[in-house]
Order: sequence, then C-alpha cells, then structure tokens
Amino acid sequence: MTDRKGIILAGGSGTRLYPITMGVSKQLLPIFDKPMIYYPLSVLMLADIREIAIITTPHDQDQFIRTLGDGSQWGISLTYIVQDSPDGLAQAYLLAEDFLAGAPSAMVLGDNIFFGHGLPDMLAEARRQPEGGTVFGYHVADPERYGVVDFDSAGTVRSIIEKPENPPSSYAVTGLYFLDGSAPDRARRVRPSARGELEITSLLESYLADGLLSVKRMGRGYAWLDTGTHGSLLDAGNFVRTLQLRQGMQTGSPDEVAFQMGWIDKKALLERASTFAKNDYGIHLRALARETDH
Ligand code: TTP
Repeated sequence: MTDRKGIILAGGSGTRLYPITMGVSKQLLPIFDKPMIYYPLSVLMLADIREIAIITTPHDQDQFIRTLGDGSQWGISLTYIVQDSPDGLAQAYLLAEDFLAGAPSAMVLGDNIFFGHGLPDMLAEARRQPEGGTVFGYHVADPERYGVVDFDSAGTVRSIIEKPENPPSSYAVTGLYFLDGSAPDRARRVRPSARGELEITSLLESYLADGLLSVKRMGRGYAWLDTGTHGSLLDAGNFVRTLQLRQGMQTGSPDEVAFQMGWIDKKALLERASTFAKNDYGIHLRALARETDH
C-alpha cells in the first residue's frame, strides 16, 4: 500500500480574530510557547506520516516557510501549496491532488488542537484503514457551529449535517480526516454550498453514501480545542501552559515527536535545543535528549 500522506489546511481568513489576523496568519499565532501549526503538525507526525503538504494563503506562505522550513530538522518532508481564496475545506483535496498522487491521506485543520492519552493508538487505527474514511466525533456544548453527526437508534451514522439549526446530536466532526485515495475524485464531484464553499461534509457524505465512512467517538478523556476566537485562543494557550508546567513534558512539539519516532538522533535534537537555548522549550529539549538512551 502507498504510504499515507498528510495535509495541513492553514489558509482561511481568520476574520473572527481581527484585528490580529489582518497582518498575520491565525495558524502562526502563539499557543503559549509554540506557533499554532506545531500542534496539528505533531498530530500528523504521531500518526507516522512523514510527507506533508501545507496549504496556505498566497500572502502568508513565506512566513510558514520561514517558520517550518523543509521539515528536514524533524526528518520529514514539507511541501507548500497555495489556496488562492478560501473556497472551502474540500478544495484542499483538489489543490493537493498532484502531491497525493493517489495516496491515502490524513488532513488536519491548522487551527485544531488535540490532546489525549489514547491519541497515538486512535491515530494508528485510522491510519491502518485501507479503504474509505475515518473521522472523529466529539461531544461539544455548541454543535450548531460544526458539522454534526446524526446517529440512528442503533448508533449507526445516518448523515452529517453542516451547521444545523437544530442539531440532531451533540457530536461535532473534528478537523481531522483520514480518507483513502479516492478523495480528490470525490471532491471534484462536490458542488459549492449556499455559502459558496466546497464543504467537507459533502465530501464525507459521498463516503457515507457508499458505506465507506467510519465515525469514531473521541471520548471525554480527550481535549479538542477551538482557537478561532480571542477567548478560545487564550484558553488554549492556558491549557497547554497548565499541562506543561505540571507535567514537565511538552504537548504539540514536532521536535519531541520526531525524536521519539526515531526520525532524528540525539545530536540533531541537541542542535535544535541550542536554537532555543534562551527559553524553556530549548531547556526541555535538552533535558529530553539527556534522559534518553538513543
Ligand atoms: P474556519 O474556522 O471555518 O474559518 P477561518 O479560519 O477563515 O476563520 P473565520 O471564521 O474567523 O473567518 O476555518 C477552519 C480552518 O480551515 C482554519 O484553519 C482555516 C482553514 N481554511 C482554509 O485553509 N481554507 C478554507 O477555504 C477554509 C474555509 C478554511
């Protein structure tokens, strides 16, 4: 089987975060000590994905390249693709079609933060699925803001409804989508919605109609955080700070994941640590290199 490739969708307009995002991309804003995009990037890396395309607006691309480079510092390969205008999440599969070259993919939204003990196992299971798609349902207080899962009485998924006025359940579909190689073909058949976007829910509906979509519930032991408003951005930063201070461990660190996956050695990790020698992130990476034997 072709190796699964990754996509981070990091364009969009970020209007809810104006005036901050008038001059800088939302996905480069800080979540405590790291740029937002480090968190979804770490999730793809935890899913054992090493070839990743990053989709940005035309005017923000340079800053992403400056922040993340070609990925070699983490033993991965990063490719940059431009989205001219924010025409919807499903458009990512059209823009990334050449990059994917028929491979299955995992796409994550650049502003989604996941945390949870069982995450690597959950990702590994989704990664192994040879055909169809896997998405995750998460219980939220405000489902009407998301794509919502409609379950029948047996718990089988009947449909996914985008921003419903009367949500059929409290389970929102998170911004992490494992789809097989047919995603670009299916995305081509999606027609723009009333708001003019190629909706990811329409793409997922196509898998559902063929009996090829699995919706896994992400239980209450996980955190799926929103970062799209001023308050939720601050809350997410505080969440990460609280965890890291208490545990003395990092969350959302591509450096740590790369080292644990064995994609970079101790010397490379120490080199990265020296880049950040003046702050706690660098101190943490140095300690990690010293306390591990490989
Ligand atoms: P949204 O939260 O729907 O939109 P946004 O980020 O542009 O913000 P706002 O509502 O404040 O204007 O987007 C979810 C994620 O998907 C976010 O990371 C941006 C990204 N995105 C794209 O990259 N391209 C798109 O066409 C759309 C719609 C979103």
